[in-house]
Amino acid sequence: MNDQPSPPQDSSTTTHFGFRDVPVGDKQKLVGEVFSSVAGKYDLMNDLMSLGIHRVWKRYFVATSQVRRGDRVLDLAGGTGDIALLLRDRVGETGSIVLGDINGEMLRVGRDRMTDQGKVSGFEYVQVNAEKLPFPDASFDLVTIAFGLRNVTDKDAALREMNRVLKVGGQARVLEFSEVTADWFKPVYDFHSFKVLPVLGRLFANDADSYQYLAESIRKHPPQAELKGMMEAAGFARCRYRNLSAGICAIHTGYRV
Ligand SMILES: C[S@@+](CC[C@H](N)C(=O)[O-])C[C@H]1O[C@@H](n2cnc3c(N)ncnc32)[C@H](O)[C@@H]1O
Repeated sequence: MNDQPSPPQDSSTTTHFGFRDVPVGDKQKLVGEVFSSVAGKYDLMNDLMSLGIHRVWKRYFVATSQVRRGDRVLDLAGGTGDIALLLRDRVGETGSIVLGDINGEMLRVGRDRMTDQGKVSGFEYVQVNAEKLPFPDASFDLVTIAFGLRNVTDKDAALREMNRVLKVGGQARVLEFSEVTADWFKPVYDFHSFKVLPVLGRLFANDADSYQYLAESIRKHPPQAELKGMMEAAGFARCRYRNLSAGICAIHTGYRV
């Protein structure tokens, strides 16, 4: 797989990369550097940072997806394939999963991991930018994106693309870090995010900065109600969200009409 597709050259406006403002045209490259740096340690770090709870969130995300045998599913920003693996069992031999990610290194780690587990058939790996998908309209029964939307520069464009490639009646599901709802928990969560994560990153992935970015990017991501509004603006109907673990994460859903 190639390096990342070239980002658009736009230095006239800025966006956030964690707590930093950067030219819009630079964000994709910076995010790419984060994931290229962490790819080899990504799965280990997820377990360490969340004490394994990310596995519960992901299982719940897939278990409540109403995915059926024979469905064709796009898992966007699919990374090392956690969601794709869980979906595979549910769509069965007659279904298929397209694992799309902008980062060739993350896709490589994911494909190797699935091959090692003997999970070969039924997957396609495609290097794509969620903002501009290379699929025809109405190609998928379900589109998922887990812990990915936060990293996309133009989230509205990605949501519109998710809507476009869904069949009528198909569902989009977004699993993403969100805004913690319990006031008492916020200081604990901030301590974990800004003190513990960078240390874990330095010790286990030799990369404190990427995990500092993770904590910052969560704080910059639109909170629950705002993201729901963005999904409605992108054309989705019956948009809803459900908080997980006091809002550490939320699952947003919407349907193509
Ligand atoms: C935190 S990882 C999530 C991986 C996986 N979905 C999971 O839940 O473990 C975020 C992924 O988003 C991908 N990504 C970031 N920007 C993207 C974009 N514009 N289009 C597609 N993928 C993107 C990154 O390369 C990375 O693999």
